[in-house]
Amino acid sequence: MSDTQQFDVIVIGAGPAGYHAAIRAAQLGMKTACIDAALGKDGKPALGGTCLRVGCIPSKALLDSSRQFWNMGHIFGDHGISFDNAKIDVSAMVGRKDKIVKQFTGGIAQLFKANKITAFYGFGTLHAGNVVKVKQHDGSEVELKGTNVILAAGSDSIELPFAKFDGQHIVDNVGALDFTEVPKRLGVIGAGVIGLELGSVWNRLGAKVTILEAMPDFLAAADGEAAKVAAREFKKQGLDIQLGAKVSKAEVKNGEVHLTYTDAKGEQNIVVDKLLVAVGRKAASKGLLADGTGVQLDERGRIVVDEHCHTGVDGVWAVGDCVRGPMLAHKGFEEGIAVAELIAGLPGHVNFDTIPWVIYTEPEIAWVGKTEEQLKAEGIPYKAGSFPFAAVGRAVAMAEPAGFVKVLAHAETDRVLGMHLVGANVSELVHEGVLTMEFSGSADDLARICHAHPSLSEAVHDAAMAVHKRAIHKA
Ligand code: NAI
Repeated sequence: MSDTQQFDVIVIGAGPAGYHAAIRAAQLGMKTACIDAALGKDGKPALGGTCLRVGCIPSKALLDSSRQFWNMGHIFGDHGISFDNAKIDVSAMVGRKDKIVKQFTGGIAQLFKANKITAFYGFGTLHAGNVVKVKQHDGSEVELKGTNVILAAGSDSIELPFAKFDGQHIVDNVGALDFTEVPKRLGVIGAGVIGLELGSVWNRLGAKVTILEAMPDFLAAADGEAAKVAAREFKKQGLDIQLGAKVSKAEVKNGEVHLTYTDAKGEQNIVVDKLLVAVGRKAASKGLLADGTGVQLDERGRIVVDEHCHTGVDGVWAVGDCVRGPMLAHKGFEEGIAVAELIAGLPGHVNFDTIPWVIYTEPEIAWVGKTEEQLKAEGIPYKAGSFPFAAVGRAVAMAEPAGFVKVLAHAETDRVLGMHLVGANVSELVHEGVLTMEFSGSADDLARICHAHPSLSEAVHDAAMAVHKRAIHKA
């Protein structure tokens, strides 16, 4: 082994949290290294983590391809456009997705180079005294020492003991992004974010998709009204979502997956061609910590940190999916930046109360802040104002009338406490709520801001006006 290399900051993991931390640390003048073990589909190192390789970006590529295909059969007719024999070439669609992934993973390597970050390709383990040992892909080992070490190891799919991933018939998000043909029947365990997004992709392309969800309520984390409206749209699209369905068996026989589950009606059996298991993710802390580092894990294997992402061990920090909080790339971005700034002696902070959530289905579902159910449970007095996209000229002109915007504001102070949206492009519109809440704004503030006409954002404006019962376009 060569001599120990010294850095100001060593980041383990080049996913959203890790690469943001590394680039910001380098921008702030610190000598920075970043370690990542992942390989791309071509077997070469690929930076960017789950998000860029097998998560946010590739899933959006397939969501957009499949939406175009779906629109041909379902929306184009409204516009007076007809065609014969629409076909989908799955390998071309997946190839496009792979190209986008390569562009973005390669982009991170370029950003590292431009910021003079030393990249190590291999598996990093933290040892006592801020020493990091990296097992590189060529079998060699390097030893690094950091004044600061930022753990950003991400998360892995949770596997069910009776439905082990085989990469062929029973898959996680990685496999479901790479089917070589549209499965005739796709089973999905878990009606969460991944189940709904990837279930939508293959449903739009013609698969018969059955989603089995253990919980009795659909999208329990979302506002109840938003979940109800979204469920109605998914049903129209042919997504079969079974709630309160507890799967107990998944057997691969003759190239098919035989599923057994129990619901309110008793034991049920279905047969599918592919099974996607999307029941959540767990922190990827395995192998990350050698004995004696002093870094603690909680009961779910997450690295224990304080509100500043500090582990309690001098100079050791942790960010992103491997710590508490929502497993969202953008939460990781902000934690990565905040920690780099804290190390540099600057203020760094992430406001968990204003982190937006988006589910990229059709219609999209997005929210920030509290749901009505949470406000009721916490006894917070509130007023709600909502507005449907069916009354928004731009949405109707786009043939996207589904969904609504709801603004929740404190009954006494009028401060916005939450915004819930279902509809076209609400992944963008939700940021009106994020900004308003971040600046402690009121529903009246939002209602008095001039919004362009015609635009989808008018639904936000009218929903804010509706909080005070003065929406102009509402009878
Ligand atoms: P999730 O936590 O969103 O949903 C998992 C679902 O599976 C839950 O509804 C749960 O009740 C259900 N479930 C759990 N065990 C089950 C069982 N044995 N049988 C049936 N249902 C069961 O997790 P998901 O979809 O796997 O996503 C993982 C993480 O990735 C999430 O934390 C999510 O936030 C993140 N992600 C975010 C995206 C976005 O922001 N658009 C996109 C994809 C993933």
